[in-house]
Amino acid sequence: MTDRKILLDDYLPPSHDIEEVALEFDLHPNKTRVRSRIVFKRARGGDLRLDGKELTLISARIDGQPIEVNPDKEGITLRADDLPERFVWEAEVEIDPGSNTSLEGLYISNGMYCTQCEAEGFRKITYYPDRPDVMAPFSVRISGDEPVMLSNGNPVARGKGWVEWQDPWPKPSYLFALVAGDLLAHSDRFTTASGRDVELNIYVRKPDIDKCAYAMDSLKRSMKWDEEEYGREYDLDLFNIVAVDDFNMGAMENKGLNIFNSSLVLASPQTATDQNYEGIESVIAHEYFHNWTGNRVTCRDWFQLCLKEGLTVFRDQSFGMDMREPNVNRIKDVMVLRAAQFPEDAGPLAHPPRPNAYVEINNFYTATVYEKGAEVVGMLRRLVGPAQYRAALDLYFDRHDGQACTIEDWLQVFEDATGRDLSQFKLWYTSAGTPELGVAEAWDGKGSYTLTLNQKTPPTPDEAEKAPRLIPVAVGLLYPDGSEAVETRVLELTKPVESFR
Ligand code: SER
Ligand code: ZN
Repeated sequence: MTDRKILLDDYLPPSHDIEEVALEFDLHPNKTRVRSRIVFKRARGGDLRLDGKELTLISARIDGQPIEVNPDKEGITLRADDLPERFVWEAEVEIDPGSNTSLEGLYISNGMYCTQCEAEGFRKITYYPDRPDVMAPFSVRISGDEPVMLSNGNPVARGKGWVEWQDPWPKPSYLFALVAGDLLAHSDRFTTASGRDVELNIYVRKPDIDKCAYAMDSLKRSMKWDEEEYGREYDLDLFNIVAVDDFNMGAMENKGLNIFNSSLVLASPQTATDQNYEGIESVIAHEYFHNWTGNRVTCRDWFQLCLKEGLTVFRDQSFGMDMREPNVNRIKDVMVLRAAQFPEDAGPLAHPPRPNAYVEINNFYTATVYEKGAEVVGMLRRLVGPAQYRAALDLYFDRHDGQACTIEDWLQVFEDATGRDLSQFKLWYTSAGTPELGVAEAWDGKGSYTLTLNQKTPPTPDEAEKAPRLIPVAVGLLYPDGSEAVETRVLELTKPVESFR
């Protein structure tokens, strides 16, 4: 591992865009061959860096001509001078999924081939600009003896021992997935609001086939909820979920082929607790919701991780509140925040939801990025109100569909949809620490009530002095009998101390 620090300020747009990607896999437990054909087009220009790790390069061509390349330990640099404006890169590599114990790239879990590419696992499959701001449509041909062989998108052709998949939606490499093994499907269908008939499958091992019903039911409710609450429809003919025993993360939102840790899919009344059911419902929803918040609109770079994760956690929490008892769910979510995120923010690893430096991105899948990221979205919704929140989200999907975005893009749609200046609010994304809110109230006995709010954020290792945040505070007044005296409204604390009468 290198310990080179990667800085947000050093971001440069990609040197080249990709028009299309075709991959061919010849599956073998220890000698899988991967052939890639990638159409590159000059963008910013300059040398083209192809990331690649633990790959054995067999051959490489540019526009059909064999070329000599000397990979270093982390990839290949193609010199700008040697590259036409537009060209086809072809490579054949060999990889060893059977010996891959990192659970990144292509590996074998209990005899089944499976992949994990977020954040930087695709570079263990082939040479590629493995960064989220390079998006392309993929076609994938898989050859092998496995009874089920899956990839992203829709299946377009198959024969004995091979199958071809096409994903029409441009995506970054971290959303690539391949699964192959002896699996059975628990199947169902869903008709979208505009009438698209979608086939749904949950693939598991034979003994688990009776444990998929709750996950399937959760999936259908998630699809419906996203249509009703966010106007987001599913966009392929097929949605596949696969349960895998060895999986680094809880689950992964690969386009059209979500891969789950089996503990978050399988449940039967004999073995599962209420908490297991709730966990399945919320993670199924989370990964499904990523189809729009993560996949159709993705992140420009990994500093922006909370753009997809904070928003998607906020969406899965809102779904949970609609499916269950909202106040109980909210209390549980806050308990998780206080148990996991507050200590993180108060300790040596404190970082903002949008950090500005990292050494290893895998260490930033944190409670701050996920749970605090979700709270910040909820605060934004509180600040602008539900109608303007929905208008801003509509604008976000309209404006940024098919793009790789930043927190600045996200806040800009709220500024444009509401006419507000959110520069102070942005501190929630860029500055670490947990503000403490103080409240003092005074009633003059005659009809005037004054609420004085103050805020203070303790220092964090990266920042000694904290500027005041914009904190929306919802306030209502009740009579002693519990009936409403003053309707709930949102006060905006912007200074260290402020009084509201
Ligand atoms: N992107 C994955 C998720 O949040 C990784 O954990 O669902
Ligand atoms: Zn997620």
